[in-house]
Amino acid sequence: MENDDISLDSGEISELDALAALCVEDDAGVDDFLVELGRNLGPGSRRLLQRLAAERQAGRQKRPGGNQAIVGAEAGLREVMAAVRQVGRSDAPVLILGETGTGKEVVARAVHQHSRRAGGPFLRVNCGAIPAELIDSELFGHERGSFTGAVATRKGWFERADGGTLFLDEIGELPLAAQVRLLRVLQDGSFQRVGGEHVLNVDVRLVAATNRDLRQAVGVGAFREDLWFRIAVFPIPLPPLRERLQDIPALAAHFSLRAAERLGLPPRMPDAADLDLLAAYPWPGNVRELASVIERAAILGDGHRLEVARALGAVPTPARATVGETSPAAPVEDLETVIRRHIESVLASCHGRVEGPHGAARLLRVNPHTLRSKMRKLGVDAGRFRA
Ligand SMILES: Nc1ncnc2c1ncn2[C@@H]1O[C@H](COP(=O)(O)OP(=O)(O)OP(=O)(O)O)[C@@H](O)[C@H]1O
Ligand SMILES: [Mg+2]
Repeated sequence: MENDDISLDSGEISELDALAALCVEDDAGVDDFLVELGRNLGPGSRRLLQRLAAERQAGRQKRPGGNQAIVGAEAGLREVMAAVRQVGRSDAPVLILGETGTGKEVVARAVHQHSRRAGGPFLRVNCGAIPAELIDSELFGHERGSFTGAVATRKGWFERADGGTLFLDEIGELPLAAQVRLLRVLQDGSFQRVGGEHVLNVDVRLVAATNRDLRQAVGVGAFREDLWFRIAVFPIPLPPLRERLQDIPALAAHFSLRAAERLGLPPRMPDAADLDLLAAYPWPGNVRELASVIERAAILGDGHRLEVARALGAVPTPARATVGETSPAAPVEDLETVIRRHIESVLASCHGRVEGPHGAARLLRVNPHTLRSKMRKLGVDAGRFRA
């Protein structure tokens, strides 16, 4: 229950100040806690909350690598982070799987940071961006003059990542010829530069990521099965954002702070109604899309508030969505109306059921509790749709 009238006495303020100091010390789960606190205490303490959050941000930036905070590490990404810690101790290859924008690169860096190689290099390469004729030279490097254009000796990925981690991003895009070369170096652990005479040995940990179904790619011959077995020793699947709605408040707060800093505006936190809207959206672009919606909300609110509803309204409707029936000439419907009609049409198809395997919440991919509160707010009565 939100209580907007609460005022804090000096004792409570100093208690919260002590809490702020503690928050700066320890990252785990505190963002989530701060957001909950702000939701429950109302505007007075929301201001305090913003100060706490700003202090945390400042504290983070003082620590090396600290701006790589992983929001939800103790919530929606708890299992992922447990896997990261587990595999970090070994040198086994890691394969990170997940939809676009779920945080694969963030997790790849975390694997590096949790390994004995944390002090060594972390090299990210985009496997989709290498022209076929340059693959050998990219992977293994080349000696000066070994081919036209090789004006200087160049180290390849494996040499540059020596003592650290090589992150092969979008590995599903690696052309077949490159897959063969990669497999060879993974099997032998040694290679030669193009045009070179010496055999080189390096100590590199491989982390790969893909948003493609690599098993299916193996099935249709687009990805080599032997390479798949090599890299898929320890797969870490990242859940899409719509399956970890509990992380949305903390992520929104995190991106709001980031946007405020970037725009030079005072940070504004999402309120309960904003959070409901964010929880009801399906997030096809996952965390990256949430970051851009919050940034847009910060720009639209111009330091006064976060304009979440308007920012979400500006999201282009995906082609598969059923809500975009307005013709260009028709007046634009407001977001609440569109959301209400969408909820009603799903409730109708579920005969008014909200919860359970055949309920509207499951179809809409939201928590039943969130859906009920949304329905209350929009005046939707599930009873109307029961047979
Ligand atoms: N848990 C998180 N905490 C904080 N920021 C996150 C988190 N997850 C993702 N991000 C941010 O969201 C953006 C997208 O993350 P990232 O680039 O790791 O996604 P990705 O899965 O590699 O996406 P793609 O498949 O499109 O390459 C980045 O700006 C990243 O910093
Ligand atoms: Mg990526």
